[in-house]
Amino acid sequence: MTTGTPTPFDSGFPADPYSRLAPFRESCPVARVTTPAGRQVWLITRDKDVRAAFLNPLLSMRGGRTDPYPPTRRALDVTLVGHDPPHHTRLRRLVSPWLTPGRVEAYRPVAEAAAAELLDVVVRDDPADLMPFAHAFSFRVMCKLLGVPAADEPELYACAASVFARPVRDRAKVQANLDRIDAYFHEQVARRRPGPRRPDPGDDVVTAIVAAWDPSGPVSRDEVVSLCATLLFAGYESTAQMIGMSMAALLTRPDTLAALRAEPGALPHAVEELLRFHTPGPFGTMRTASQDVLVAGTVIPAGSRVLLSIAGANRDPARHADPDVLDIGRATAARHLTFGLGTHFCLGASLARLEVTVALRAILDRFPRMALAVAPERLTWQGNYLNRGLAELPVRLRG
Ligand code: HEM
Repeated sequence: MTTGTPTPFDSGFPADPYSRLAPFRESCPVARVTTPAGRQVWLITRDKDVRAAFLNPLLSMRGGRTDPYPPTRRALDVTLVGHDPPHHTRLRRLVSPWLTPGRVEAYRPVAEAAAAELLDVVVRDDPADLMPFAHAFSFRVMCKLLGVPAADEPELYACAASVFARPVRDRAKVQANLDRIDAYFHEQVARRRPGPRRPDPGDDVVTAIVAAWDPSGPVSRDEVVSLCATLLFAGYESTAQMIGMSMAALLTRPDTLAALRAEPGALPHAVEELLRFHTPGPFGTMRTASQDVLVAGTVIPAGSRVLLSIAGANRDPARHADPDVLDIGRATAARHLTFGLGTHFCLGASLARLEVTVALRAILDRFPRMALAVAPERLTWQGNYLNRGLAELPVRLRG
């Protein structure tokens, strides 16, 4: 397999990346594979190697290039994750102080109120689809975090939802909606600069970023706009999908669900296990080798593109015993790589954990008899090899 170009990325990959990645992890943990777009990339699947790769500066976003990105039409066309240090460090430190576990804890009541209100909509139908709830909830929390006024939320939601809709049906519409979101965050940043147009300063993250930003310093206005828009994009869909996949995993395992209901205090740990068990992003962002890199005895040549398999690592039996079993008491649960590792470790990890915990708690409390409305194998999955999730999650609310 080292010299051939097999692919694990068939149409069933979004539903079950794990069974496609396992043979690579077992027999060829550093493999050359072909992406659906026909590109040759290297695939790393073992926990030990994926960890080391996340921490290896030779596997970088820009393959060793240190020049700034050329100007782009939209600020959000270059995002934080696309930078390597030192540019990455310069940008990340403007955001990271506002997303610490302590800071995001302040959003717990906001998330609880959003869950209660949005579940009121779910109860109107039985059977119901839980995915609209998961999306609306995740989006609402992001809007609160970013200080998006309630009046702006519906239009912004429609734009973001169209960007993430899969399969992509209308590329021109997606581009127009990206333009709209870009313009929106330009406006929000401008409104928060000192001056007559500034509303009362809020306690949201966009306000905090703009207040900490020195326009005559090393970070440009476009970069500030991109940081704000990136939070929305990075945080919204992945968290919504994590909520959906978590509920699907629990509803297909009634004993686990019953155990969790019997011991509500177990939920935060159960969320870690759910994050290990099901990741919306099977891989980290594609890296490029800036020099020849030796991984588990295989040389990845300079210039190669490299996929670090989070899903493969999370199901590695060398790290997690019986990895294909969802075990909410698992001692190694929190040692998953679902939020990455190292330089680009997910800035929203604390918020995502909080959101998933709040959403699951609200659903379990509100619907003590909830059950899947379809057989597990009839759940419809969507996405591609980089982003996956449920198209719908039909449930019976009253069992
Ligand atoms: C369950 C939900 C989430 C998952 C699974 C997830 C996963 C990840 C992963 C794997 C990375 C690292 C990418 C890499 O190294 O290649 C990452 C980065 C990032 N995430 Fe998340 N994320 C989630 C939620 C969020 C939320 C809620 C936010 C915003 C509040 C967020 C913001 C970011 C940002 C800005 C980065 C880039 C960090 C950097 O490059 O320094 N994520 N995320």
